[in-house]
Order: sequence, then C-alpha cells, then structure tokens
Amino acid sequence: MRSDITAQNNLIRIFNNKHRETLVRVECFEDALRSLKYEGKVSRGKNIANVKTLIGYFGTHLKRHMRAEERILYPFFDIHVPKYDSVIALFRLEHREINRNMRKMVQWIKLYDEWSQKGLFSEWLKSFYVEGMCFVHLTRHHLVSESATLFKSVICCLHGDEIGILEKKMKTFLIKNDD
Ligand SMILES: [Fe+2]
Ligand SMILES: [Fe+2]
Repeated sequence: MRSDITAQNNLIRIFNNKHRETLVRVECFEDALRSLKYEGKVSRGKNIANVKTLIGYFGTHLKRHMRAEERILYPFFDIHVPKYDSVIALFRLEHREINRNMRKMVQWIKLYDEWSQKGLFSEWLKSFYVEGMCFVHLTRHHLVSESATLFKSVICCLHGDEIGILEKKMKTFLIKNDD
C-alpha cells in the first residue's frame, strides 16, 4: 500500500512531466515566431514550416492534455476538494482562452498563402504574431501556475486511495484517447 505522500508525488510528477514537455514546445514556438518576424524572406519558408509543425503539436497533445484535465481531473477536484472551486474555474477559463488562441492561429495559418501572394505578408504577420504571442504567454502562465501552485496544494489534500481512483480514471481516459 502506497503512503499518501508517495501517491501524491507520483501524480504530481505525471502532470509536471507533461507540463515541462509542453513548455519546451512553447519556448520553441516563441523562437519560431520571432524568427518569422525578424529573419526576413530568405528563411520564411523554414520558419513557417516550424510554426506549422508546432501548432500541429499543440492541436494534438496540448488539447488532449487539457481535455483530460477538464473531463477527469477538474471534476474530481470539484467533488473531493471543493474549497478550490474558484481556482479550478479560473483554469477552465484559461483553457477556453488557450483553445480560442489555437483556433485563431489555425485560421491565420490557412490564410498565409493567399495573403502573401497578394503582397500582404506584413499585415498577415502582424495579426498572426499577436495571436501567437498571446498563446505563448497565456499557455506558459497556465502550465507554470498549475504545476507550481494548484497541483501541489490540491493534490496534497487527497488521500492515497482517492489518488488511486483518480489515476485509474486518468489512465482509462488517456488509453481511450491514445496518449
Ligand atoms: Fe490546464
Ligand atoms: Fe495542465
């Protein structure tokens, strides 16, 4: 039988690893955005390709991570640690905003060819860059604050047997959703 603390640390580690992995990609995306803005036409094709690849990664992996939190983790916290309901509500709102940013970025990427062929690359870049940077800062803030504050405080309120149930639910969800 695991102690409460071992169980808590295990679960925190699983989420922190996912957050760290995503934060590295967020860092790369920020670099790719800056390169797109400052490196000029010669490197544009390469920079667009980098940006597209990373948006694809977020569209699959970050979305899946947030879905797991919304469907399994947050509802579990709502029931077992209700005193944190306002913080969870804030995190749900941030997910909504991150998803909105991702949708906008995908829309802008689809317009890239058309706008650049019409000689409107600067205008396109201005809009895409703002949306991209909002995504970078919001996502970074969200992942860091979930790891640093919420998970530590909330998960530490759960007992070993509750964590066992939560882990099982998460595992089932992730297997079903191919993670
Ligand atoms: Fe989250
Ligand atoms: Fe998260």
